[in-house]
Amino acid sequence: MQDLVIGFIGGGNMARSLVGGLLNTGWSGGDIYVSEPEQDKREYFEQQMGTHVSPLNGTVVQHADVVVLAVKPQVLRQVLTSARDELQRHRPLLVSIVAGIRERDIQRWSGGGISIVRAMPNTPALVGSGATGLFANALTDDTQRDTAESLLRAVGMTVWLAEEQQLDAVTALSGSGPAYFMYFMEALEKAGTEHGLPAETARLLTLETCLGSAKLAINSTEELPELRRRVTSPGGTTERALEVMDQSGLPGILNKAFDAAVKRASELAELLGRD
Ligand SMILES: NC(=O)c1ccc[n+]([C@@H]2O[C@H](COP(=O)([O-])OP(=O)(O)OC[C@H]3O[C@@H](n4cnc5c(N)ncnc54)[C@H](OP(=O)(O)O)[C@@H]3O)[C@@H](O)[C@H]2O)c1
Repeated sequence: MQDLVIGFIGGGNMARSLVGGLLNTGWSGGDIYVSEPEQDKREYFEQQMGTHVSPLNGTVVQHADVVVLAVKPQVLRQVLTSARDELQRHRPLLVSIVAGIRERDIQRWSGGGISIVRAMPNTPALVGSGATGLFANALTDDTQRDTAESLLRAVGMTVWLAEEQQLDAVTALSGSGPAYFMYFMEALEKAGTEHGLPAETARLLTLETCLGSAKLAINSTEELPELRRRVTSPGGTTERALEVMDQSGLPGILNKAFDAAVKRASELAELLGRD
């Protein structure tokens, strides 16, 4: 992968963490191009990360073997249609991290015949602990798949999906998931303070318990229900709390919330993919 040139269209938060991840895994800034309209952001990439920068997206397409689309969904159509001629001339692999926009729309706006990988990362990618779902179109060969995977692995773990539609469930699970855990942690922290803990203590215990539980599960061969049972002594405090959660219908609420997120992902894809 290291003899490739990689380009980013859009020099925002995600591009910054992906470029940071690439530099940490041995890439040279000299092999990275970033196009970005805002001068301050270009200066950051050039001066802090040593990449090439340009205000012109066409410059990135001209130089890069792999072009990461890292703009907001609302501007992707304009970005691709105005770079269409260069895209057709150079035919780079496109790796889109843009939430919601489907392969067929990216393909249509790019002029057709392009290898495209759609990636759905999440915000923990900003601290190198992302979880990314990947889908490749039929034109993407194995080497290109490996390239896309290595790129996203620079900011966390990756999983491949057989069907593009599964990205809607990934969006609802790991894409929106950090917000669900924040929500749950907010409630736990508040409950802790309401029961007499100092705010900072409640916050630290909440965050460390969330992190520790995930670490425990990742390092264990046991399934989640078994790990949960191990904390739940008969007649104890955990059992009492879980009974309340069950009786209040929490699993049903989570399922309903998940359904709503999947449906919204599909609606947004429909809306954002319009010409
Ligand atoms: N953040 C996440 O965790 C996350 C997770 C999954 C997917 N994503 C997706 O990743 C994409 C980028 O997210 P982000 O958080 O990095 O957003 P962001 O910080 O807003 O970055 C987008 C960048 O694109 C630039 N831009 C705007 N118009 C452009 C154009 N025509 N050509 C080139 N660059 C242009 C913006 O510049 P200006 O500021 O000057 O407008 C901005 O710097 C989004 O599509 C989002 O859906 C993000």
